[in-house]
Amino acid sequence: MKYPFYAVVREDFSSVDQLINDSLTSRVPLVEEIAGYIVEAGGKRLRPLLVLLAAKSCGYTHDLHVNLAAVIEFLHTAMLLHDDVVDESDLRRGRKTVNAEWGNPQSVLVGDFLHSRAFEMMVEIGNMRVMEILSKATNTIAEGEVQQLGNIRNPETSESSYMEVISRKTAMLFEAASHSGAVLAGAPLKDEEALQAYGLHLGLAFQLIDDILDYEGTTADLGKNVGDDFAEGKMTLPLIVAMRNGNADQREFISNAILQGELSDMDQLMIIVRETGGLQYTIDMAAKEVERAISAIETLPHSKFRDAMISLAKFAVERNY
Ligand code: IPE
Ligand code: IPE
Ligand code: MG
Ligand code: MG
Ligand code: MG
Repeated sequence: MKYPFYAVVREDFSSVDQLINDSLTSRVPLVEEIAGYIVEAGGKRLRPLLVLLAAKSCGYTHDLHVNLAAVIEFLHTAMLLHDDVVDESDLRRGRKTVNAEWGNPQSVLVGDFLHSRAFEMMVEIGNMRVMEILSKATNTIAEGEVQQLGNIRNPETSESSYMEVISRKTAMLFEAASHSGAVLAGAPLKDEEALQAYGLHLGLAFQLIDDILDYEGTTADLGKNVGDDFAEGKMTLPLIVAMRNGNADQREFISNAILQGELSDMDQLMIIVRETGGLQYTIDMAAKEVERAISAIETLPHSKFRDAMISLAKFAVERNY
């Protein structure tokens, strides 16, 4: 944990880790083995961190934010188990994916287990508004993932369609994390809305950078394979902009490449994506979203938790993993 924004909630964060580990028990040994395998691999745990920071920045003094943070991480992990099947990915968090190690049925079904465990834990929290936010969020995320399928191998995908997909599939959970943290804390409506907007914009920036890293990152840093998006024919923003700005030859190259998904086209594609400004446009867009996230929480009372959220937003664009 080399980033300071974890430090302000260090103790709560360890309690979240503990609760996550304690909540993985199952009557079926294989469930426990697989759930333990993906959870143990860690991950950045940004969404539970966001719950803790949001609740604390609204002056929360009880303990249920720890439970809520674990719930959000379980929802996220369940989605990753499904996502790796859908994306046919074989590396996650520096390890073979569950689908690569055990198989697609195991990954889908343990994903369902974690998803439903999250709902059991959510009911224990007993806050109807929190339940409303999280159940709506998971529903929206599923829609976003399905909507994304419609853009696969479609070189004509528009920027607005891409933005709609990422706001549903990714930003929604960040938004739900900060929003539900504020609701749990009983924050006034204006602070609740500020944190909701913060999570949305942070989540958008986060996915924009994730999509950049699929081209520009390294497998060693990311713990997942680069080039997965392209291989599965996913039109992310760098490519959408390259299609818009490119000349006829460049456009044709991208169209063919996205239809075939041959990794040997990656080098040429990278050149085009850079030359046409597709990468820079995406980076600038992420930076704008981070500015929006930070300005959304300007009106919150000053605290070390609010400062940590500002650093967290900056990390979302500076990260290489
Ligand atoms: C991966 O999220 C899925 C996306 C929304 C891009 P993270 O990058 O937060 O994954 P972990 O939890 O750190 O592994
Ligand atoms: C993440 O999208 C969205 C969800 C997990 C719902 P990606 O497919 O880009 O995530 P990674 O790159 O596999 O982590
Ligand atoms: Mg994926
Ligand atoms: Mg995916
Ligand atoms: Mg990705």
